[in-house]
Amino acid sequence: MGHSFGGPWTEDKLQRIDDYLDAYMTIFSGNLRASKLNTIYLDAFAGTGFRTSPVAEDRAEGSLFEDALEDPDADALKKGSAYVALRTKPPFGRYIFVDRNPAHAESLAALRQEFPELADRISVLAADANTFLQEWCRKTNWKVNRAVVFLDPYGMQVDWSTIEAIAATKAIDLWILFPLGQAVNRLLTRHDIPEGGQAQRLTRFFGTEDWKGAFYEEADTQLSMFEAFGEETGHAKRTNFDAIGRFFVNRLEQVFVGVSKSPLPLRNSKGVPLFLLCFAVANPNGAKPALKIANYLLRRQ
Ligand SMILES: C[S@@+](CC[C@H](N)C(=O)[O-])C[C@H]1O[C@@H](n2cnc3c(N)ncnc32)[C@H](O)[C@@H]1O
Repeated sequence: MGHSFGGPWTEDKLQRIDDYLDAYMTIFSGNLRASKLNTIYLDAFAGTGFRTSPVAEDRAEGSLFEDALEDPDADALKKGSAYVALRTKPPFGRYIFVDRNPAHAESLAALRQEFPELADRISVLAADANTFLQEWCRKTNWKVNRAVVFLDPYGMQVDWSTIEAIAATKAIDLWILFPLGQAVNRLLTRHDIPEGGQAQRLTRFFGTEDWKGAFYEEADTQLSMFEAFGEETGHAKRTNFDAIGRFFVNRLEQVFVGVSKSPLPLRNSKGVPLFLLCFAVANPNGAKPALKIANYLLRRQ
């Protein structure tokens, strides 16, 4: 089925994840102690295994797109994260693909036909990522398993309690897209601190109410006409993309042993950082090499 999302930055994101998975499995299979552990790749917003870029879809009626379909490179651009993970060499011991959309789950299950040699290693679940991950992190025996988890939501779907559950395993390397310009910055309204459902959403996402103090200051009293009339002055947004990104990295640092300090901004054509590609490692023993590789991949031009 067709699944249209992202932009040119999507390929960049997937290439870096692809390279990380290869490096991870190469290290695991080359190390005698690590090779005794079972390795799992878990994609909790797995999509369909394929993608059609919105630009390509716009052109679908025209000859330009038909030409692109003939181009093997253009074909390569259409693989989604689940497909990319299944190409990892050497392969993971297990692949778990989760997507809330049952049609997407069906398409993911069909990947077994594309990768018959891995078919019995693939599990597909039509489920909510937060519910599934929290239970899976709790129930898995982390003495004998290690995992890479990829969280690639459209927006603010990942709850902080899920991130805490992942960190608590002390066995997972996490790649996560932080929806900086896509969602968080938009919810942080300019005049006065968000309230009600909007505030709850931000608190559930960051796992704290500290975002209020971090992103808002009392409005400038000299400029406030209201104060002269004894009215409350209210608050105003005092932040920018960099500070919001640092706040999230700092939150990750409170629960993970290692976090990349320079997440990669994924920008739209106007230069707006829609997402930050972030990396965090929960396993104290593997933190050093994992961070070294992730930092290299995040900085690579
Ligand atoms: C950006 S797409 C993922 C793309 C995928 N990583 C790829 O590279 O092909 C986000 C996916 O998350 C799924 N989704 C949205 N909310 C979800 C949730 N709460 N739990 C699980 N899946 C969810 C959507 O159905 C969609 O397929």
